[in-house]
Amino acid sequence: MPAKVIDGNEVSALIRKEIGGRVEQMRRHGIVPGLAVIVIGNNAASAVYVRNKIRACEDVGIRSFRFDFGESASPEDVLSVIEELNNRQDVHGILVQLPLPPKFSIGSILRTISADKDVDGFHLYNVGGLVVGDTVFPPCTPYGVVKLLEHENITIEGKNVVVVGASNIVGKPIALMLMQRDATVCICHAKTRDLAQFTILADILVVAAGKPNLILPQMVKTGAVVIDVGINRLANGKLVGDVDFNGVKEKASYITPVPGGVGPMTVTMLLENTISSAERAIKQKSSV
Ligand code: GUN
Repeated sequence: MPAKVIDGNEVSALIRKEIGGRVEQMRRHGIVPGLAVIVIGNNAASAVYVRNKIRACEDVGIRSFRFDFGESASPEDVLSVIEELNNRQDVHGILVQLPLPPKFSIGSILRTISADKDVDGFHLYNVGGLVVGDTVFPPCTPYGVVKLLEHENITIEGKNVVVVGASNIVGKPIALMLMQRDATVCICHAKTRDLAQFTILADILVVAAGKPNLILPQMVKTGAVVIDVGINRLANGKLVGDVDFNGVKEKASYITPVPGGVGPMTVTMLLENTISSAERAIKQKSSV
């Protein structure tokens, strides 16, 4: 039997509706949750992602503040805006869209964002929280993957999870988050020899490598859950993931499509982290 195709748009819409309710509740008490988005340079893909994030904020009632810097801006100027935002009461989340132009240090920018407004979950404090299982803001894409698994009632505990791709944004954090949920986790990467010997053991296979058709049906165990985080634009303009969707669909029990799988969840989890941050700020204020 072919796999159930997990509809990320549908799950996303359900979660956004719930977030909309929480925003409304907050607005009734006179507080508007706010997200600051900082864009540096002119990366075309970043422009699309940022537009989507800002539109999603509008849709659920989160106020957004956008700051654009040209490539010639000085790192000090960006850092001073971040410091200002760290102290603003009407800003509950701050994100700097990546990648950055080469002269900017990702490390120093991400470390300057206050850990309790770091809704991307990229600050070292929040990354460390993943290791000890005490995360304030889980990074958005891995968080979205966990939410999809939970929505489908897929058991994580005791499962063999194989993650393909060891990036700081997806591969490493998803491995930690699933390990925290008592899965047995293996991470494969560009230097892994004979990828298939690992992927074939996976009950849950998460692929975030950025290579179309990296995962073929013969590399997948019958009945596996396959989560495709890849986004690749082919020469013919078609958007595809890292998995041979049509082939693997015949073997897996669940599979996410590209587009329409993990993608919409990333922005949704950004909204979730922002509203959670605003709720936390209010709680802290009222307990003082
Ligand atoms: N660039 C690619 N993915 C992301 C993300 O999740 N957050 C930010 N800030 N930049 C990105």
